[in-house]
Amino acid sequence: MKRIILLVWVLIISFLSQAQLQQSLNFYADKCQSLKIGTAVGSNFYTAYDNGDIYNRTIINNFNILVAENEMKFDAMEPQKGNFNYNNSDKLVAYAQKYNMQLRGHNLCWHSQLPSWITAGLTNGIANGTFTRTSLQAILKNHINTIVTRYKGKVQQWDAVNEPFNDGTGTLRNSIWQQVIGNDYIDSTFVWAHRADPDAKLYLNEYSGEMYGDTKSEAMFNYVKSMKDRGIPITGVGFQCHFMVNTINFTKLDQNIKRYAVAGLEVIITELDIRIKNTDYNSNPAKWLAYQASDYQNMINICLNNSNAKTFVTWGFTDKYSWIPNFTNNAYGYSLIFDNSYTIKPAYTSILNVLATESARLSAVNPVKETAEVRLFFTNGLAFIKTDNAMTRCQLFDMKGNCLIVSEVKNNKIEIPLNNVQSGMYILKVQLENGQTITRKFIR
Ligand code: G3I
Repeated sequence: MKRIILLVWVLIISFLSQAQLQQSLNFYADKCQSLKIGTAVGSNFYTAYDNGDIYNRTIINNFNILVAENEMKFDAMEPQKGNFNYNNSDKLVAYAQKYNMQLRGHNLCWHSQLPSWITAGLTNGIANGTFTRTSLQAILKNHINTIVTRYKGKVQQWDAVNEPFNDGTGTLRNSIWQQVIGNDYIDSTFVWAHRADPDAKLYLNEYSGEMYGDTKSEAMFNYVKSMKDRGIPITGVGFQCHFMVNTINFTKLDQNIKRYAVAGLEVIITELDIRIKNTDYNSNPAKWLAYQASDYQNMINICLNNSNAKTFVTWGFTDKYSWIPNFTNNAYGYSLIFDNSYTIKPAYTSILNVLATESARLSAVNPVKETAEVRLFFTNGLAFIKTDNAMTRCQLFDMKGNCLIVSEVKNNKIEIPLNNVQSGMYILKVQLENGQTITRKFIR
């Protein structure tokens, strides 16, 4: 009897752990109208770079677009005038290419996180004559041109201008750029970035511009629409979405996204996190995590339901490394979809369920969603992949998200050596030349 109980117990545990291992946000997102689901990566990404630890595995298993939390800002990229530092940004770019992810560049022009050789131009927040309009324009243009050119075709989306509006009034913030160059620094940033990479998508990224009707949101919409009307190459706006649990007005958010669509502009979710007050959390964790899960679910649904909102990025993924506790003097936290120990939270499950349901619905509506089929042939410990479209590379992942093999195309086919691959279930991602990705479950 004891043996039977033990056997049943082992079966249950192994079933549960299998179910756990198969969870992957990007697996389903790829099937949901190529939804981009992403995260900001923090400083530990670069020290533990691609070493297969849990931080890396969680990224590979779940996201298909990344953004640097700090390492591509002005102070990090150009710490001394004309002296660019590519150490971390190059690592991030190589990583994204290896794992077939897109990148957001954050950011080209912002009032914050500027190097001291730029902030030397301000005394108590007022321009002090160190720079002229012409000299600061030349600095900004060179910064943008150098970075965007270096990552042409590798960074698909740039936050060209970050947080240009004042809180409350929605007037333009009197950053050093605005004071010395004038309001046209915004137009110029977009034009210079577009010239450096005409295929890159360019966004104006803001906080508190999310809700229809708010003063800052109205000012932002009118400003961005006028840019578009004047022919400035702007793709759309980034809504940062640093929200507080249970306070989000989804009707106003949806209404706002829809008016951008009418204006021919994208809205993307760039820095989502949903913080919980520590005292609330401590009083009843399950209740507040459930509210948070519902908020995350509504957020992903808004993206699926709006054709101009197909990028969904959270500002980090584990509560272990969120900026919120530090920023709020430990009054708030718990804002992301994995907890401190990388265990999935109800918020994660709510997003996963939405994506899984939507991908199943789409494949039922249109079973031949992809334009190319993958065919696999096996011989002598090798798998050969062929598709109807030209391929570039293929990756084999285990169900934990570890990338086991990356194979490049040779003579129009891809060979995957399977000799060291144990039997089990895997995910095969084939990247096509046309940018499309085909994902298949693969049983060895
Ligand atoms: O690099 C220094 C390190 O040398 C020093 O020892 C340490 C001591 O505090 O500070 C380190 O710099 C910190 C930096 O992050 C890198 O970790 C700064 O103090 C800290 O203020 C900075 O915070 C970042 C913040 O932007 C700065 O404004 C957050 O990590 C980052 O999450 C946050 O991101 C912004 C987005 O870019 C724009 N939207 C809002 C969002 C949240 O504030």
